[in-house]
Amino acid sequence: MTKLLMETEKRIPTHVSIIMDGNGRWARERGMERTMGHVAGVESVRACTVAAIEEGVKYLSFFAFSEENWNRPEGEVSSLMKLMFESMQKEFEMFVREGVRFIVVGDREKLGSAMCGIIDNIMEATKNNSKLTFVLFISYSGKWDILQAAKKMAADMAAHPEKNVSEADFGNYLATAGIPDPDLLIRTSGEQRISNYLLWQTAYSEFYFTPVLWPDFREADFKAALEEYAKRDRRYGKVK
Ligand code: IPE
Ligand code: IPE
Ligand code: MG
Repeated sequence: MTKLLMETEKRIPTHVSIIMDGNGRWARERGMERTMGHVAGVESVRACTVAAIEEGVKYLSFFAFSEENWNRPEGEVSSLMKLMFESMQKEFEMFVREGVRFIVVGDREKLGSAMCGIIDNIMEATKNNSKLTFVLFISYSGKWDILQAAKKMAADMAAHPEKNVSEADFGNYLATAGIPDPDLLIRTSGEQRISNYLLWQTAYSEFYFTPVLWPDFREADFKAALEEYAKRDRRYGKVK
C-alpha cells in the first residue's frame, strides 16, 4: 500500500518505450565503424532495464530494427541481426533470474529460423514472469502493424458481419495486443520524429526528446526522463 502510494506520488509510467537512435553518429565521432555504435548501445539497453526495474516500470520496450532498416547496407543489417541474436543468447539467463518477461513484436516472416527459434525459446521460458515485461520491436513498423490488423479485422468481419469493432477491439488485432500503450516515449540523438514506430499506440503518449546519443544514454538519463514525465499534465482532451 505504501509502495503503491509512493508510486502514485512519483507518477511512474507503466510503459516506457524507447527509439534508440544515434549509434552510427556515436561511432563516427570516435572514428569507428557504425557497428561499434550498435555494440556499445547494448549496454544502454541493459542499463535502462536495471533502472526500469528499480523504478517500478512494468513495461519497457525498444525499437531495435524498423521495416525501413532492411534497406540499410547488407553488412550493417547482418551485423545488427547477429548482435541481436547474440545479445538474446547472453541475456536469456538474466531475464529468467530477474523475473523479466521477454516479448518480440514485428514481422516474423523476414527473420531467419534461428532468430525465430531463440525468440520463441526465451518467450516460452519467461512467459510467467511479472516483474518487468521487456519488449523488442524487430522488423516492425507502425503502418505494417495497422495494415495487418486491418486485414485480420476484415477477415473476421466477413465471417461475422454483425460484429461492431470498437477502438479497444481494434487494438486486439494489432501486433502489440495485450501490451498497454506507451505512457512515455523517449527518442535519443536529437531527432524529433516517430519514424513509422508505434502510430496507433502513441495517440496519447508523452514524448521526450534528448540530444544524448543512444550508447551514452544510461541510468541517470533514464531517470531524468522519468522525472520529466512526472511533471507532465496528461489531459486526454479534457479540461482539468
Ligand atoms: C539506431 O542508431 C540503431 C538502429 C536504427 C538500428 P542508428 O544506426 O540509426 O544511428 P544514426 O542515427 O545513424 O547515428
Ligand atoms: C528509427 O531510427 C528506427 C530504430 C531506432 C530502430 P532510424 O535511424 O532508422 O530513423 P530515421 O531514418 O532517422 O528516421
Ligand atoms: Mg538513426
